[in-house]
Amino acid sequence: MAASLFSTLTIRDVTFRNRIVVSPMCEYSSQGGFANDWHFVHLGSRAVGGAGAVLTEAAGVTADGRISPVDLGIYRDEHVEPLARIFRFVEAHGAVPGMQLAHAGRKASTSEPWKGGTPVAVEDGGWTPIWAPSAIPFRDGWQTPRAMTPDDIGGLVRAFASAARRVLQAGGRVVEIHAAHGYLLHEFLSPLSNHRDDAYGGSFDNRTRIVREVVEAVRAVWPERLPLWIRHLQKSHQRTPRTTFHICAAGLPKCLETGNAPGKSSKK
Ligand SMILES: Cc1cc2nc3c(=O)[nH]c(=O)nc-3n(C[C@H](O)[C@H](O)[C@H](O)COP(=O)(O)O)c2cc1C
Repeated sequence: MAASLFSTLTIRDVTFRNRIVVSPMCEYSSQGGFANDWHFVHLGSRAVGGAGAVLTEAAGVTADGRISPVDLGIYRDEHVEPLARIFRFVEAHGAVPGMQLAHAGRKASTSEPWKGGTPVAVEDGGWTPIWAPSAIPFRDGWQTPRAMTPDDIGGLVRAFASAARRVLQAGGRVVEIHAAHGYLLHEFLSPLSNHRDDAYGGSFDNRTRIVREVVEAVRAVWPERLPLWIRHLQKSHQRTPRTTFHICAAGLPKCLETGNAPGKSSKK
């Protein structure tokens, strides 16, 4: 086991010095989406510490797609240079720098965990509307999201691609799409949060469509020589009294690979 963990790993044209990846971790330390000295120390110190790859926290592909007002963002060209400074340092210390791209969906505009992780009002720096596949709040008393139109979805897909282009400009060599933890893409995958009856809801093929579109759009700007990762969670990120829906987890990678729908959701 130890031999594998500390052996090199090559994915596409990128060789990692070992298999230790610093997982994305929200730092709640950004203003206006900009990376700063906090992120420099958080990410840079893990590179100095010997990790094979160092990923940033979930970075909002749009301003209203941030989980909290103090999350990283990658929705403006001005976000590139502060990130590039960090990525240069990470590279200089032998780790592969990467960024996780995210949209928080109906869990956007919430506070830091130590302040409750609950909705932040507009007057306190939060925002409205927030977006989701269907107009269903994450919890009772939380902001009701606006259901995205097909045009909104097209804009989101383009925002993921623009964000990936900025990561490339900053010198990132891994980009990861966040499709887990109950955020927007995961919300489309789950029949609990996706009640749509159009091409993005209903069947497994339809619920996974947005993820396939995002992957294709990102890959179109992200060079073939660089790894494109996706984070997925096999169950819905929502507690219901006695039910957890599992979203055909085994089928999703296959689905992304082939563009086909290999299975159905199951109920446990
Ligand atoms: C403070 C904190 C912030 C996190 N932020 C993110 C995030 O931005 N994106 C993400 O995919 N996971 C996030 N996670 C989950 C971690 O990436 C990781 O999966 C989790 O800590 C469990 O570790 P493990 O996957 O090694 O078991 C966060 C975890 C913590 C503790």
